[in-house]
Amino acid sequence: MAPPALKGAPLPATPVNTILLVVALQTEAAPLVKDLKLEEDTSGLFPAGVPWTKFSGEYKGMTVHLVTPGKDPIHGVDSVCTVPSSLLTFSCIQLLKPDLIINCGTAGGFQAKGAAIADVYLISETSFHDRRNTIPGYVEYGIGALEATPVAKLLSHLSLKEGVLTTGDSLDHVPEDDIIMKNNNATVKDMEGAAIAYVANMLSTPLIIIKGVTDIVDSPAPTDEEFLRNLHQAAHAVQAVVCDALDFLSSKTLSDL
Ligand code: ADE
Repeated sequence: MAPPALKGAPLPATPVNTILLVVALQTEAAPLVKDLKLEEDTSGLFPAGVPWTKFSGEYKGMTVHLVTPGKDPIHGVDSVCTVPSSLLTFSCIQLLKPDLIINCGTAGGFQAKGAAIADVYLISETSFHDRRNTIPGYVEYGIGALEATPVAKLLSHLSLKEGVLTTGDSLDHVPEDDIIMKNNNATVKDMEGAAIAYVANMLSTPLIIIKGVTDIVDSPAPTDEEFLRNLHQAAHAVQAVVCDALDFLSSKTLSDL
């Protein structure tokens, strides 16, 4: 069964004035903040106690906000995974009313699908692989497949690879995940994308997902070592593609994408 398209497709002729970049890791955010000359917003926009960060600026006639889930207040590491990114995205759609969201960052890639280190993918569809529930009806709910916002002209302009993203809350994967990731037809694997797509779809906000490959999921190399070794290279590859995407988006409407 084909996954449902994002609510509201085809896209309306709304000008792309405000863009929200949702980024999980500080290392992924840093090159974008620098290149786009974004300034940190310390005005207290978010509720007291949340660790989220926001950097904003004007870029080629558009207002660009980059948000991260920030450092976990207890453990002091980046707040990765589906819960922080969902809360952040939900809140930022309410507060900032973006015309378009871009979730960008790093991911594992499947070499069986042609992925290599530092490849950058535009995501065509999102699913989850770790929400297992065999009760009738809940199997499909758990997978939660959603088609991405259609952006064929952007894809062809950027000459990117396109692939399906599978999301789970673990960096590693158990055999049950492997079966579902294969069924999901995944080319890339991350820890946030499908959750952000769930929120964007619920609130009818167009979403583009751009992911750079740090590690090969279907290889025996330890994921954590490979991830850390390639993180900066992949983050810079993503930053270059996101800047090219923003250049394309300038002066466009959603229906031009
Ligand atoms: N981010 C980067 N590599 C990843 C992987 N292998 N799994 C989940 N998220 C990732």
